[in-house]
Amino acid sequence: MAKFLENAWYVAAWSGEVGRTPLPRTLLERAVLFYRLEDGTPVAMQDRCPHRFVPLSKGEVRGNEIMCGYHGLTFDQAGRCTHRRATDIARERFCVPTYVLEERYGAIWIWMGESGLADPDLIPRFDFFDSPTHIVAGQGLTYIKANYTLEIDNLLDLSHLDFVHAKTISNGKVTEGRYNVYQKGNTVHSDWFIPATVAPRQFADLITMSNDRRWEGAKRDMIVDHWLDMRWDAPGSLFLDVGVAPAGTDRKCPIDMPQAHFVTPETEYSTHYFWIYSMTALGQPEALLDGFLDIVKIAFDQEDRPMIEAQQGAMKSADFWVEQPMILAEDSGAVRARRVLDKLIREENRAGEPAKPPAPEPRSLSTAAPDERNLA
Ligand code: FES
Ligand SMILES: [Fe+2]
Repeated sequence: MAKFLENAWYVAAWSGEVGRTPLPRTLLERAVLFYRLEDGTPVAMQDRCPHRFVPLSKGEVRGNEIMCGYHGLTFDQAGRCTHRRATDIARERFCVPTYVLEERYGAIWIWMGESGLADPDLIPRFDFFDSPTHIVAGQGLTYIKANYTLEIDNLLDLSHLDFVHAKTISNGKVTEGRYNVYQKGNTVHSDWFIPATVAPRQFADLITMSNDRRWEGAKRDMIVDHWLDMRWDAPGSLFLDVGVAPAGTDRKCPIDMPQAHFVTPETEYSTHYFWIYSMTALGQPEALLDGFLDIVKIAFDQEDRPMIEAQQGAMKSADFWVEQPMILAEDSGAVRARRVLDKLIREENRAGEPAKPPAPEPRSLSTAAPDERNLA
């Protein structure tokens, strides 16, 4: 079975990473090169020159074209060789494969499968990017030496916050809450609700800053209702809303941090993990936002990453299901996501197989050919 879902949108890079200098990045075990045209449009093509196979990213962008750094062949955004030294036949025969891109939510999304199927409407929605009540407060990219499904498991089972992030972003109370999982089509929701708990430390400052009267007199250790609602769409797009509201108010007047987590395989055993988060706009000073970003980076880079890499190290190349993992109730979200992903990859593989000849009709007197009847 193929390792990855091909006909799907993956985040390939943050918008700010792609400019007029070639950006090389391996995605789904394929070397890809990114740059921007003069009008700012991002382009992506195979990062391999068809002449002597060096990475085109070692060359330079000239106008709208990329020039190979070895012998100077040039290719336009459609991958066509435009250099005068290449013959017409060579130009036609040696086109560099290109990929469909879509720029959205501060990221460059790539479709690595059949280009005719690339529908931008299939990109999951992350409405918080346009929310007038929120500010995008931090983002990053964490490189993990592990299979991407282990990172997805991590995000769909936030009980780990109480243990992995007890010193940074957790109040250690998640597992005292109620867990709920549900699925709509191929979208999996994996939610925690912790009623009447002390505000997690990342909200402690924020709740004292609100002008809303329902937060009046709020202290850092105020008792709140707290939720962590995670949504997953295949193959690796996750939306998380983490929030607090005064206890017993049915989530009225929330202060929250909607965020996106994009998990893209580099290879079978390495992953690009893109994360971005926003916050209810409360006039937070820069210093508070900077301090929070530092804590989030520690949480993802120094707490999650080593744990997931150690997990992969312990599993080596063993198949997750063959190893027969212990399953707890709060694993339901991750288990459902794995099932959906496996199903989609299976379906894609099946669609790509050559059509089998139809099974022979069962023989009967009424369907047998005349000569067969004669033989009977
Ligand atoms: S290897 Fe690219 S031009 Fe020769
Ligand atoms: Fe984590």
